[in-house]
Amino acid sequence: MATEPNIAGLDIAGARFLPGLLSVHEQIELAGEIAAIMAEAPLFRPRMPRNGRPFSVSMTNCGALGWVSDESGYRYQSHHPVTGRCWPALPGRLAALWQRVTGLAALPEACLVNYYDGHARMGLHQDRDEADFRAPVLSLSLGDSALFRIGGTARGGPTRSVTLASGDGLVLEGASRLAFHGIDRIRAGSSRLLPQGGRINLTLRRVTPLPDDGG
Ligand code: SIN
Ligand code: FE2
Repeated sequence: MATEPNIAGLDIAGARFLPGLLSVHEQIELAGEIAAIMAEAPLFRPRMPRNGRPFSVSMTNCGALGWVSDESGYRYQSHHPVTGRCWPALPGRLAALWQRVTGLAALPEACLVNYYDGHARMGLHQDRDEADFRAPVLSLSLGDSALFRIGGTARGGPTRSVTLASGDGLVLEGASRLAFHGIDRIRAGSSRLLPQGGRINLTLRRVTPLPDDGG
């Protein structure tokens, strides 16, 4: 029976690595759309809930809801924490890609835009601020390559690494929906897609429960 291959033998049911999901042309067009989003909703520096320490990535969002983090905690909200404005709309191509890759009719409500300069990283964490883990997380990479690490659903378990290059997609669904994951490092200068260099990761998510039929 043909099944989608998991990441290099990862024993995590459901993590789907989709290298080259976006063509070079699609990457250029998407990078232009994200630049317009960043002009409207500037990158901000999130802070850790307990100690207020700044993340090394900066972020913004598009879609109805955006993920933010500061001393009040992790949460989704409808407005930018600095400008107070609503987030820019989700580009139509991302909605269409989500439906094609996930098979869900229910559209993503949030698209987190993470920007990594050459020194940024992201510690191992679970994505668990959403109401319904039946909906997968779709991640897209643009610009410099990154060393991505993924483990199981328990902190401290074994992990595997995979390089995420510009245009690659990754879907966390099923048992991998709550897998610990993070970015160990950026290979600075490995892509010329972004004029400013660095890496953009887009994470598309449902935030509220899926409709009763599973979406
Ligand atoms: C994240 O988990 O929020 C980002 C993962 C990535 O940058 O690939
Ligand atoms: Fe994450």
